[in-house]
Amino acid sequence: MDAVLNGRTALVTGGTSGIGRAVVRRFVDEGAHVIVTGRRQAQLDEVAAEFGDAVTAVRADASDPADVTTLFEVVAARGSGLDAVHANAGLGEFKPLADVTAADIDAVFATNVRGTTLTVQGAVPFLNEGAAIVITGSTAGSGTEKNFGLYGASKAAVATLTRTWAAELAPRRIRINTIIPGPTETPGLKGLAPGNEDGLLAAIAAGLPFRRVLRPEEVAAAVLFLVSSESSGMTGSEVFVDGGASIA
Ligand SMILES: NC(=O)c1ccc[n+]([C@@H]2O[C@H](COP(=O)([O-])OP(=O)(O)OC[C@H]3O[C@@H](n4cnc5c(N)ncnc54)[C@H](OP(=O)(O)O)[C@@H]3O)[C@@H](O)[C@H]2O)c1
Repeated sequence: MDAVLNGRTALVTGGTSGIGRAVVRRFVDEGAHVIVTGRRQAQLDEVAAEFGDAVTAVRADASDPADVTTLFEVVAARGSGLDAVHANAGLGEFKPLADVTAADIDAVFATNVRGTTLTVQGAVPFLNEGAAIVITGSTAGSGTEKNFGLYGASKAAVATLTRTWAAELAPRRIRINTIIPGPTETPGLKGLAPGNEDGLLAAIAAGLPFRRVLRPEEVAAAVLFLVSSESSGMTGSEVFVDGGASIA
């Protein structure tokens, strides 16, 4: 079978770790050139070393308009437009309501909502015929997880934005869908319980139907589907890759 993204150009924000990195690997395996972003230069250098000419690593904070401008200057300079965009950069932390500060609110919404919006807005002028966008939401966006309210609210916001953008972009035949991962073993998830990473994963796994957290590759497979022509009938959808978390 031909590689699904042969000769295509993709953008993955937050592609240096976890889910984003698995998506970069999958897109490269499928023949794409991938423009990868993140804030930490060391992680970007690692990605550049792993994937070589198949990637362009760009240091860009998704929440910073100046960085986003720089990112799309790189896209413009490459000259091949974009066929697939995964707006994935995101973060959060466990905090009970009583401990949430104004700075926490700004930090979570800056990356997850402002960053996602600036990424999609910046990408649209570069999209080639048949291009598709995927946004990373979260099962926390359905909002029942204790101490995860701020993060969940930001992910509910991006899912709502995606439905609106789907309607706005449909006349241009641009598809945009949200992937909703359940708990996935990544540095980001483990970082929620510093010093007790294994305990956290075990506790989460115990509450899931398969008694395990997801692997980033399982999420990446669905992202590939959503940027490929196999999902040509889908826009404004939410695709749950949650190991059955919603039926637990
Ligand atoms: N793991 C899960 O269980 C899970 C479940 C549902 C949804 N998600 C979502 O999936 C996405 C990836 O999470 P992950 O678990 O793979 O986390 P991760 O391992 O921490 O990776 C996050 C990636 O995003 C980058 N990033 C963070 N803030 C950024 C910003 N402002 N600008 C640009 N890049 C930024 C990070 O690099 P730098 O830190 O160097 O910038 C890193 O490459 C997030 O949107 C997260 O909310 C994760």
